[in-house]
Amino acid sequence: PARGPLAGRRVVVSAGGTREPLDPVRYLGNRSSGKQGYALAAVAARRGAEVTLVSANAALTAPAGVTVVPVTTALELESAVQRAAEDADVVVMAAAVADFRPAHYADAKIKKTHDPADPDAAPTIELVRNPDILAGLVEARGEDASPVIVGFAAETGDEHGDVLNHGRAKLARKGCDLLVVNEVGVDKTFGHDDNTVHILRQGSSHVVDAGPASKEDVAAAVWDAVQQIL
Ligand code: C5P
Repeated sequence: PARGPLAGRRVVVSAGGTREPLDPVRYLGNRSSGKQGYALAAVAARRGAEVTLVSANAALTAPAGVTVVPVTTALELESAVQRAAEDADVVVMAAAVADFRPAHYADAKIKKTHDPADPDAAPTIELVRNPDILAGLVEARGEDASPVIVGFAAETGDEHGDVLNHGRAKLARKGCDLLVVNEVGVDKTFGHDDNTVHILRQGSSHVVDAGPASKEDVAAAVWDAVQQIL
């Protein structure tokens, strides 16, 4: 049997970035590498948890002892996470989920000259909203407040206070138990090995700062905070 502070716990981690297809060769995507989510899965497995990693388009090797469920789109990620969350103790939503997807999928590659009447015209891409998966998990949760739900928030801000204020508002809005506020910018976080985060807990004014640290060290700080709630 597994040993460690998460032994006997089932945890779900989503990682990577969703891709929303436009046609067979094109998609709308984002710059998430999946490294932070994979580090979360690896640390949880080392602490004894049974880990399901719902992985969206990450070009990374599965951590030892982790069950990987590969997905592409936000809707696929939603059903995989919901299914895995049914008997989970913890769900960590580290994936960068597209807020919007193209309203229409073209079965054939969209041509440069898509309108023969106006050969120089550029097409307009209509978007529709994707579900907020994290908010849906919180809503679907029963009165036992299980599973523990952790969200991530990538915030850009010039001032420290700015980032934290956005994070607090988001924690209140989303209703999850912990929110890991990630400072992002063009040169920060995405695809990098180091990360700076602030871990906020629902109903508490206490903030745990981690970093600049490796994504493994950040993952350890997140699981420490989860373990306090379990
Ligand atoms: O609102 P924002 O996108 O900043 O929230 C980020 C958090 O919400 C992350 O934990 C992300 O995985 C989750 N999310 C989601 N579904 C979406 C958008 C974000 O679950 N459609």
